[in-house]
Amino acid sequence: MNVLLIGSGGREHALAWKLAQSPALSKLYAAPGNPGIARHAELVALDVADHEAVVNFCRSRSIALVVIGPEAPLVAGLADDLRAAEIRVFGPNKAAAQLEGSKGFTKDLCRAANIPTAGYVRAESAEEALSKLPPFGLPVVIKADGLAAGKGVVIATTRDEAHRAIRDADGPLVIEEFLSGEEASLFALTDGKTVVPFGSAQDHKRVGEGDSGPNTGGMGAYSPARVLTPELERAAMRDIVEPTVRAMAEAGTPFVGVLYAGLMLTPGGPKLIEYNARFGDPEAQVLMPRLESDLLLMMLACAEGRLAEAEPPRFSDRVALTVVMAANGYPGTPQAGGAIAGLDRAEAAGAIVFQAGTREEGGQLVAAGGRVLAVTAEGPTVRWAQQSAYSAIDRIDFPSGFCRRDIGWREIEREVR
Ligand code: AMP
Ligand code: GLY
Repeated sequence: MNVLLIGSGGREHALAWKLAQSPALSKLYAAPGNPGIARHAELVALDVADHEAVVNFCRSRSIALVVIGPEAPLVAGLADDLRAAEIRVFGPNKAAAQLEGSKGFTKDLCRAANIPTAGYVRAESAEEALSKLPPFGLPVVIKADGLAAGKGVVIATTRDEAHRAIRDADGPLVIEEFLSGEEASLFALTDGKTVVPFGSAQDHKRVGEGDSGPNTGGMGAYSPARVLTPELERAAMRDIVEPTVRAMAEAGTPFVGVLYAGLMLTPGGPKLIEYNARFGDPEAQVLMPRLESDLLLMMLACAEGRLAEAEPPRFSDRVALTVVMAANGYPGTPQAGGAIAGLDRAEAAGAIVFQAGTREEGGQLVAAGGRVLAVTAEGPTVRWAQQSAYSAIDRIDFPSGFCRRDIGWREIEREVR
């Protein structure tokens, strides 16, 4: 069958790499894609904001499944318009993508379905937020309600800071109780009724070593997240993910696709921090290498409402770890155009190099974004996978880029203990 993949990041390169291994695939198209994705797919210059153009392309190429990678087209309702044209889609409709697109929506759903999460209030304006702040202790968490690419969250340690964050935010807000614990990500596939766990990961959001400096989209990740033990994973599925999928179905807005639960592992059990309506980036770059099942068949089972009949997903016991190479300046303004070489040498060392912000310029690969590459390696332990990823990185020539040298440090500390 023919498949269209929407997106252009490292996550989509990992999905393309895995989809291309499916015996059920005839031809993979990607819009807009990137030079790494082009190794597995034909790139098409579609404007993905033009839903009619996407529908017409799908009809002209007999596309049997559209896989939507990033959140923006989901929140914009691309899946709705494809489904209205009777094209199968892996990814939620607009109403279900609110689980990522509106923090207030998700908090209200948690309250209604009794799902463990931080206590909160919603406010439509700064005045309302200031009036609702006093009962909260410190630190307190102030969040913009809408999509903010990870930048809409302030953890205020003083009242002054909280007031400033509230005044700086424009638009609706959520104020939350601060949760402490370790964070882990749990992925689940669902066709709207059946839901199955689909691996776990931990990422490093801060730009600097030792988890310092400003937040980014993610500088590295590893899978599985061993802190999310099988017992905790079962509890998170039973108390958080399954009731969410049920509540969405009961509301007439079933969620179809991958639900990415950001969890805080508190002494009282896992609590939901947030949902994403898509795979993580760079979490997909560590989940896909460990996935032994046929991704295309699993996604199709979700899109066709047949997940209950599909074989449960299988993952290898090995650890996968990915290190992001970013362009100097990221997460501020990244330096564009820097030359990149040596990817073949890195892959010859056993790593997989997923491309994110890259572009080809006169036969030369150059940087064209903040996060440029995600270098993934596997091994029996995190330490092993980490050494293997860094020895591949050391073969890459990208003078205008940088990476953190400590991805996986928490797990490595635990392994040596
Ligand atoms: P979010 O965009 O909701 O995932 O928040 C981004 C990051 O802020 C999370 O990954 C957490 O590290 C932190 N965070 C968000 N909400 C809370 C909370 N209620 N308590 C503690 N940390 C939080
Ligand atoms: N790495 C975090 C995310 O994809 O949202």
